[in-house]
Amino acid sequence: MNLDEMNKVAQAIVATGKGILAADESSGTIKKRFDAIGVESTEETRRNYREMLFRSKEGMKHISGVILYDETIWQKAKDGTPLVELIKEAGSIPGIKVDEGTKPLPFCPGELVTIGLDKLADRLPKYYEQGARFAKWRAVIDIGAGIPTHTCVYANAHALARYAALCQVAQIVPIVEPEVLMDGDHDIDRCVHITEWVLKETFQQLYYNKVALEGMLLKPNMAIAGKKCAKKASVEEVAEKTVKMLKACVPGAVPGIAFLSGGQSDEEATAHLDAMNKISKLPWKLTFSYGRALQHAPQVAWRGRAENITAAQRAFSHRAKMNGLATLGQWKSDLEKQAA
Ligand code: 13P
Repeated sequence: MNLDEMNKVAQAIVATGKGILAADESSGTIKKRFDAIGVESTEETRRNYREMLFRSKEGMKHISGVILYDETIWQKAKDGTPLVELIKEAGSIPGIKVDEGTKPLPFCPGELVTIGLDKLADRLPKYYEQGARFAKWRAVIDIGAGIPTHTCVYANAHALARYAALCQVAQIVPIVEPEVLMDGDHDIDRCVHITEWVLKETFQQLYYNKVALEGMLLKPNMAIAGKKCAKKASVEEVAEKTVKMLKACVPGAVPGIAFLSGGQSDEEATAHLDAMNKISKLPWKLTFSYGRALQHAPQVAWRGRAENITAAQRAFSHRAKMNGLATLGQWKSDLEKQAA
């Protein structure tokens, strides 16, 4: 393992002004997104859509890394260029989602555990050869009556750490993603309470599994009230509580933190990241690793039609630029109106 090299990759991914495009929707998830815009999900439409994003010159200026799904990492653009080459030509680093989704956790009703460890050691070198320099594994923790349980938090943290260690052996930077969902009716303080527990357990497991913190990145949720909670926290409260929570749990040796958007609106996700980066003296870089909050606008503009590609690329570039500014704490809501 060459830790210096992995640290360089991690630093490049969290370079100021840039962040990650999470384009790693599984076949089931991308079908849901395409259904919403009236597009049939086929290998070709998925390829066309993602090619459109990766060829967006303006948008990709703000994208340091792209997380791909297994199908995409082997796909070629219409003209025969491998999609990974398009990403590299745009100055971005290809990454790969390596978990195999979730399964119900036995004896823990309503809780899930992420799977995919069994053949991971064999799969990783193939992804490295194909150009992937970082990977992602997502654990899902739901908040509800009596959940999460210790069993769920422990099982998911352990799997995340096993995955991260296997990645580092294969010279691939692991992005460790323990996502506490924002689906419930809990308030922001309960989100903080549970997220702290999940993060502390995760870093404990990373330690026991000998993962080098300098060669990984964290992809957490923000401290945020559940979607069904009547009391919504202000942008400032989300930023302050998220930074405080992370400072209590994430060692400074971790080069950077790239948030998931988790169901926030595009503008909310940008405003929250921006407010955090306006807080001074942070021990790590804070950036974005957004799926929905980067792709919703281009998907709506595209609708599967070739004549909409320019408009869709414009929508993607705008969101990527806004999030790039948020990594600098330089975003302003007026900038959104100018583009509309
Ligand atoms: P969202 O930003 O849509 O939450 O997706 C990020 C991601 O990669 C989830 O695993």
